Amino acid sequence: YRVAVFASGQGSNFQTLVDASKAGWLGADIVLLVCDKPQAPVVERARKAGVECFLFDPKAYGRREDYEQEITAELNKQQIDLIVLAGYMRLLTSVLVEPYAGRMINIHPSLLPAFPGKNAIGQAWEYGVKVTGATVHLVDGGMDTGAIVAQAAVEITEGDIIESVEEKIHAAERDLYPKVVSWFAHDLVHVEGRKVRILSKPE
Ligand code: GRF
Repeated sequence: YRVAVFASGQGSNFQTLVDASKAGWLGADIVLLVCDKPQAPVVERARKAGVECFLFDPKAYGRREDYEQEITAELNKQQIDLIVLAGYMRLLTSVLVEPYAGRMINIHPSLLPAFPGKNAIGQAWEYGVKVTGATVHLVDGGMDTGAIVAQAAVEITEGDIIESVEEKIHAAERDLYPKVVSWFAHDLVHVEGRKVRILSKPE
């Protein structure tokens, strides 16, 4: 089962997926990193892990569709089964979304549908919620609107500061995302419109 990760930044989720794959329980290989920021720390992580990189500069293209065509060609060549977005900071067009419908997931640092879009942790903090978390969802044409696959809750308690909330959410993400990828790799995810069922979890 062949996975491509799209990322633009730190790559802590990328790293967790690579580690889980090497540990053997993911049931999937991370074979490709797609990145729009050649200087991003995630690129160095990929090099260290021996994962092939497809790097591109969006400014070198006229339209989003143009670089997405090139990405699609690379995904086809590599026979990618699942696209995992992990801090990929660009909206996708139908060039990628349509062929990978049901086979592309994103992780978002809030309990959707609360606080979609940028700076979700800051939005939740400012709002004053007592429970927040992380959501893995299928990717559709909208901003964080696709069907929800899994969520993990994080409590905000007395004594928390925004940085400690951030750390708790990132820890929840690192726990949740590899699990979800393993469900896909074991063909346990069944999508019926907005209702996503997980057939039976691998222990
Ligand atoms: C994560 O918080 C994820 O929820 C959001 O972007 C961040 C990526 O972090 N979509 P990293 O690059 O995996 O460290």
